[in-house]
Amino acid sequence: MKLTLHIWRQKNAGQPGRMARYSVTASEHMSFLEMLDVLNEELTAKGEEPVAFDHDCREGICGSCGFMINGIAHGPQRGTTVCQLHMRKFKDGDVLYLEPWRARAFPVVRDLIVDRSAFDRIISSGGFITAPTGSGPDGNATPVPKTNADLAMDAAACIGCGACVAACPNAAAALFTGAKISHLGLLPQGQPERADRALKMVAQVKEEMFGSCTNIGECEAVCPKEIKLEVIARMNRDYLRASWTARGDTAREDGI
Ligand code: SF4
Ligand code: FES
Repeated sequence: MKLTLHIWRQKNAGQPGRMARYSVTASEHMSFLEMLDVLNEELTAKGEEPVAFDHDCREGICGSCGFMINGIAHGPQRGTTVCQLHMRKFKDGDVLYLEPWRARAFPVVRDLIVDRSAFDRIISSGGFITAPTGSGPDGNATPVPKTNADLAMDAAACIGCGACVAACPNAAAALFTGAKISHLGLLPQGQPERADRALKMVAQVKEEMFGSCTNIGECEAVCPKEIKLEVIARMNRDYLRASWTARGDTAREDGI
């Protein structure tokens, strides 16, 4: 199949970017990134700069890849990272517009690559538990209710790709942060730091200049791991309870 690609080209955050037009021939069996590999080989052979895009595992598990395809984060297939998207999803003659994530907290590094280290700083602020060192504990030493184990596992599926931020009109990081707070807050091992974690991670989100969540739901629609909006409710509940406890407002705290 023959495709026309309009791709955002930008040398670095300090220079203006522009859309550049390319033609590429791809097989329907290729992944989307393999199609870009073909384009890059052609550009390199012509002595032109290849298109920079982030990737690592190409199996949908590391969270490195991601850009907008015709305005949709990770492209048209729901629950799929761009590395797992295949060309059979497109047809001969398609015209595709590829752009990097757009968010103030994710500055462009080059072309389709953005700097997502703001996510790392949110995790560093509280997305961990304190565990004793030494040999691993017995597998059944800490019982976990099945419902909580399932919900925690669902939240832990977040790969930190940033699509939720890119799709949100407010560039909010609520789905990502909610997933991390839920994942640990649902497990017994996450209880000692639960209140502190919510306060610190939400404070870091503000510090990084992400927008505020207004319950639009675009994040859930594009999330390749299908993280549910409920994680945001769980984050808000933990945050409110922790704030009220910190202020000594136990009457309100009992209400939730
Ligand atoms: S919540 Fe979904 S879209 Fe957001 S970073 Fe995690 S996996 Fe990516
Ligand atoms: S390259 Fe790892 S998730 Fe896409």
